[in-house]
Amino acid sequence: MRILSGIQPSGILHLGNYFGMMKPAIDLQTQGEAFYFIANYHSMTSLFDAEERRQNTLAVAVDFLACGLDPEKAVFFRQSDVPEVTELTWLLSTLTPMGLLERCHSYKDKLARGISPNHGLFAYPVLMAADILIYDSNVVPVGRDQKQHVEVTRDIAIKFNQQYGETFVIPEPQIRDEVAVVPGTDGQKMSKSYGNAIDLFCEEKILRKRIMGLVMDSRTPEEPKPDAEKNIAIQLLRLVAAPEISRDFEDRLRAGGLGYGDLKKSLFENCWQYFAPARARRAELLNNLDYVHQVLESGAAKARVVAAVVLKRARRACGLE
Ligand code: ADP
Ligand code: TRP
Repeated sequence: MRILSGIQPSGILHLGNYFGMMKPAIDLQTQGEAFYFIANYHSMTSLFDAEERRQNTLAVAVDFLACGLDPEKAVFFRQSDVPEVTELTWLLSTLTPMGLLERCHSYKDKLARGISPNHGLFAYPVLMAADILIYDSNVVPVGRDQKQHVEVTRDIAIKFNQQYGETFVIPEPQIRDEVAVVPGTDGQKMSKSYGNAIDLFCEEKILRKRIMGLVMDSRTPEEPKPDAEKNIAIQLLRLVAAPEISRDFEDRLRAGGLGYGDLKKSLFENCWQYFAPARARRAELLNNLDYVHQVLESGAAKARVVAAVVLKRARRACGLE
């Protein structure tokens, strides 16, 4: 089984990125042949500073390795080190109906937020389809917001196979229900663009401030809260603490008498502890960036071998060779 996922080098990673995409990907790295990459071509649709892109790419590589991506198990690389993917994007784009892209939520959301779109942003899902198809991927672990893009990939692959004969493996998205949408400090989906994110590797003081600032309702501590599992702090606590700890807090909320301050304090402590080993590995990696560059280079060499085979298959199928 080939597992593939990518993450944009948008700089600072948050709990939503970690629990929605990075952790599921890391957990899967022992289950098959894993290919994980940093989507720096994709970042060009919305980030226009070259140095920032270079630095963010390295930062995301460091953080992913710190969190447990094991380069002995997973092939880890920069998207742009396999330029074959841009050629496949062209082949796929000629069979991609405009309407399919016009219906994509993430594109529509960006339009709604007033972003003036470039062609790359519109065509973004086609590049993502090429990313997935060029490695014959079977399974794509992503957060729920990316599910539609994997469905677009399937549609394009099916269409190509029908038009030019069996060429591509049809991939499946894999979304973990319990982390499909990690809530941010305001209860909406955590996202760096909504200002509600809790960053993975922020300083202790900032983490405490973000968690103590979680937006809660105005019920008094005494009131019993039958909807304990909908509480943002509980949802986050479930991710970072042992199940009995979050269950105990849920019971106390239901019974009444628990102040949100105590719950948040425990969330902060558990969150800080949860990421302690990753923080230590990150500090080591930041002192050894040569190693990180080496990992990415050797990952790219392995990825390119696979990509070249699949691209050739596609070129032949559609009569370019
Ligand atoms: P952002 O919304 O902060 O811009 P991205 O769109 O770059 O995050 O997402 C990168 C990866 O992290 C994707 O696989 C996405 O599904 C996942 N992800 C991002 N935010 C969340 C969230 N709040 N809950 C679950 N997964 C998320
Ligand atoms: N679009 C994804 C995101 O913003 C990143 C990505 C690019 C990706 N190519 C991919 C994810 C291929 C999975 C598979 O998070």
